[in-house]
Amino acid sequence: MSQKRSDPLGDNIDWFRQASPYINSMRGATLVLSATDAAMHQKTDALLGDIALLNHLGVRVVLVHGIRDQLELALQAEQITSSFHGGRRVTPSEALPTLSAVIGRERIAVEAALSAGVTGVSSTRTNVVSGNYIKAKPYGIHEGVDFQHTGLVRRVDAVAIHAQLDRGAVVLLSPVGYSPSGELFNLRHEDLATEVAVALRADKLIHLLPKRDMRTLERTAIYQMSPQDTDVLIARRKAMIEPLKVALSCAADACRRGVRRCHLLNAELDGSLFRELFSRDGCGTMITTDGYDGLRRASADDLLGIEQLIRPLEQQGALVPRAREQLEHDLEHYTVIERDGLIVACAAMFWHGDTCELACLATHADYRNAGHAENLLNHLKRQAKMAHARSLFVLTTQTIHWFRERGFKAGDLSDLPVQKRELYNLNRNSKIMLNSL
Ligand SMILES: CC(C)(COP(=O)(O)OP(=O)(O)OC[C@H]1O[C@@H](n2cnc3c(N)ncnc32)[C@H](O)[C@@H]1OP(=O)(O)O)[C@@H](O)C(=O)NCCC(=O)NCCS
Repeated sequence: MSQKRSDPLGDNIDWFRQASPYINSMRGATLVLSATDAAMHQKTDALLGDIALLNHLGVRVVLVHGIRDQLELALQAEQITSSFHGGRRVTPSEALPTLSAVIGRERIAVEAALSAGVTGVSSTRTNVVSGNYIKAKPYGIHEGVDFQHTGLVRRVDAVAIHAQLDRGAVVLLSPVGYSPSGELFNLRHEDLATEVAVALRADKLIHLLPKRDMRTLERTAIYQMSPQDTDVLIARRKAMIEPLKVALSCAADACRRGVRRCHLLNAELDGSLFRELFSRDGCGTMITTDGYDGLRRASADDLLGIEQLIRPLEQQGALVPRAREQLEHDLEHYTVIERDGLIVACAAMFWHGDTCELACLATHADYRNAGHAENLLNHLKRQAKMAHARSLFVLTTQTIHWFRERGFKAGDLSDLPVQKRELYNLNRNSKIMLNSL
């Protein structure tokens, strides 16, 4: 008698095929996960089940958990006052027993969920280890406020953590550290995750946040940023909520200190870790220096380098001639890419209300076809988006197709801002190319 066979993979077989190169590349990679308690409490079992699965796929996982909301509730219940200054809690000594109790509770909950193994597969037990791997020092007194038992990471015992990861364990770290004399310090879990990722030379640092904290990022629709872009975003969005600001600045810091890729994810999205790690487009925001090597805002010292780069192109008619005084005046609008002390590419961006003009995009002839111009364009587009620009335009004579292939469409004079329309040089007959953001 024939029986209908179950087909659990169903339509997911294509996803599995596409994911396999990513799964393969993550095997043996070191991943530091930083999870706010607000994020963990939303989907504890599913999230920890996914972390257990990553461990089974050969990813070396360190999980740093937060306690911010839980500690706040517990302190309020015990009527212990503990204020915040500059995004950091002041931890008085009377708060330490509550801190220890909350840490113990949270750690047990995480260990229990990880011990249950991969969701729905009872035979897959995950080894979880915790330990005194973190030395701390007091944060000290800032602007007259004594932060008491709030601390900073002094040293991470990377050798001991690596030894546990080599054994296949998931290393679970709570946001506390001890001074050499055994004093307890309350750490910000984002700082701890940063220091651990840097000390372990982790391949990735991932901040898991609740959906509410990710809203600002999701609204910007920016999926990749440089640490420099991150600074701009934080400076521009004055109303950005504190947990997002802390996660973003810690991710940028880790990135600058050698962690190649840092991600911010909505932990409430089912399978967000897999979507981010095992697909091309991901589902969160990545902060990386990839493609940004040597990319920075121009300074006064770059004037000569920019001139050396653009003068030959002006002579060829590819770029409109610019007097030295004009270049000097506009220098703050320029972004450059430097290699071995040489300016190899540059571009300028000018604001006209909510429209941005891209100008003077150029790459040195010896450094072409390496993606420099594309990196500059993407970088400037992100900056324009972050500042709520609606569109980007460029006037070009010889690079029409280059822009068309990157999503620009041909426009006419009426598409230009009024003052730019008046300056348009009819003899040059440049094409107007537009890109809505
Ligand atoms: C256009 C320019 C900036 C591209 O610089 P780059 O750093 O080499 O560009 P990227 O590496 O990002 O892109 C390279 C791709 O663009 C293509 N490309 C280069 N110049 C092009 C052009 N004028 N039209 C169409 N495609 C072009 C290359 O063939 C290459 O594509 P491929 O890999 O498919 O072959 C550079 O050629 C240049 O400086 N040109 C003179 C200045 C200029 O015209 N600037 C634009 C006015 S604002």
